Amino acid sequence: ILVYLLLIIMGYLYGSIPFALVIGKLFYHTDVRNSGSGNLGGTNAGRVLGKKAGLSVIILDTSKCCISIFIAGLVANACNLNHNIVYLCALACVIGHCYPIFAGFRGGKAVSVALGYALMTNIYAFLIALVIFLITLKLSKYVSLASILASISIVVISPFLGYSTVGIITNICIVALLVYKHLSNIQRIKDGTENKITWM
Ligand code: G3P
Repeated sequence: ILVYLLLIIMGYLYGSIPFALVIGKLFYHTDVRNSGSGNLGGTNAGRVLGKKAGLSVIILDTSKCCISIFIAGLVANACNLNHNIVYLCALACVIGHCYPIFAGFRGGKAVSVALGYALMTNIYAFLIALVIFLITLKLSKYVSLASILASISIVVISPFLGYSTVGIITNICIVALLVYKHLSNIQRIKDGTENKITWM
């Protein structure tokens, strides 16, 4: 049980690293929480600091779930643990990203971490979500709407992709958290005041 707990705590702590904040402060002397949407994510880092910073944050945030899942998988095999620990560790990582202990529990909106999660748990889920993301982004120019629809598509198709029951429940939890974190974006879309991207 101690190993299970350690893996969950590791996932949470790694997810808690606020890369958007770190990159903004370290290389641009800017706190991205004070500009744009104020979100600690790749989209807002790109909006406030530029494309290079945004892409770096997206890659680093995506790596959170990739590394957590990779380590949890290795430890689960080595210690003969129940493989569902991988899902719990990933969920802890996503919660860490959204509510980081290292940034006053005010973090990102779970998009990049969820991308890493899909990539590591099911390549088809990842590809389908990516296609839906790109189509929605192209048509609407809203990153938030594209993220919401792409993540919901994973929940809809996950029973057909071989996810275990715990995997399906984890998907639902991650997507519920992602949608919850986007409630302000949904309101802005309704009001017609949501930021649109200009480069696509
Ligand atoms: O990266 C999260 C994205 O879906 C929305 O971010 O900064 O426009 O609220 P933002």
